[in-house]
Amino acid sequence: MADENIIDGKAFAADLRARIGEAVTQLKAQHDLTPGLAVVLVGADPASQVYVRNKNKATLEAGMQSFEHVLPDTTSQEELLSLIERLNSDDAVHGILVQLPLPDQIDEQAVIDAIDPAKDADGFHVINTGRLAAGGDAMVPCTPLGCLMMLKDRLGDLSGKEAVIVGRSNIVGKPMAQLLLDANCTITICHSRTADLPATCRRADILVAAVGRPEMVRGDWIKPGAAVIDVGINRVPKPGEEGKFRLVGDVAFDEAKDVAGVIAPVPGGVGPMTIACLLANTVTAACRQKGIEPPAL
Ligand code: GUN
Repeated sequence: MADENIIDGKAFAADLRARIGEAVTQLKAQHDLTPGLAVVLVGADPASQVYVRNKNKATLEAGMQSFEHVLPDTTSQEELLSLIERLNSDDAVHGILVQLPLPDQIDEQAVIDAIDPAKDADGFHVINTGRLAAGGDAMVPCTPLGCLMMLKDRLGDLSGKEAVIVGRSNIVGKPMAQLLLDANCTITICHSRTADLPATCRRADILVAAVGRPEMVRGDWIKPGAAVIDVGINRVPKPGEEGKFRLVGDVAFDEAKDVAGVIAPVPGGVGPMTIACLLANTVTAACRQKGIEPPAL
């Protein structure tokens, strides 16, 4: 497969962030509005620290305001809920993201439920999942939104395509299915009890893998010419190099790349799009809160 069939998520995300930067410049000039994103991290999980640092940097680079709240891993649920309450009523904060996972003493769902749905930059609040299902101005989870943008960019109109999603998580699988359904695809969601996973995947014009199982989707599960989006991020030991790891997706890339028409690899595919979509969501949220038509991004 030629290189042009490998989706360069890094370049795509950089373009999107540049467009967001231009939109922010306009919002400042025309409406005196600077979109602001608050990111809350509880504890010191190294992977979460890296994500939060990258989110902060990208937010500032797009000309937006970034509010970072780092709390100790002993934080109580009440303390976290009282911070959320303050952010909900802070007019400079248009988007709120609480980095998951949270420590055991905190009820994740209660925290998500406490975020003002209008400021829910992740789109995890039940009001937003409901709006996504029923129609309306939902905040849309960032990773599936990024996948949809890449698919539309490469394939154009998705109407009538057979889409198979492997994984039924609230963060990726379910909202991905909803977005592809809205784009007029025919949807199948697979999971651990699916009877014949390889055969179901082989039907897909669009195959989205989001299960967190390293290289589970093999080359011969893919219909020739299909669009494959790999959402998995798995750390696996490097063969022969003790203590070292490499990142692989849920798709066996070396096998898949010769069969797929286009493929978003790991790393460098969906990953960079997630942060760019978080910024896009914050701009959208800021505009809606001010009664301004959100820019097309
Ligand atoms: N942890 C890993 N991915 C995500 C995400 O998309 N949003 C939040 N809030 N936490 C995460």
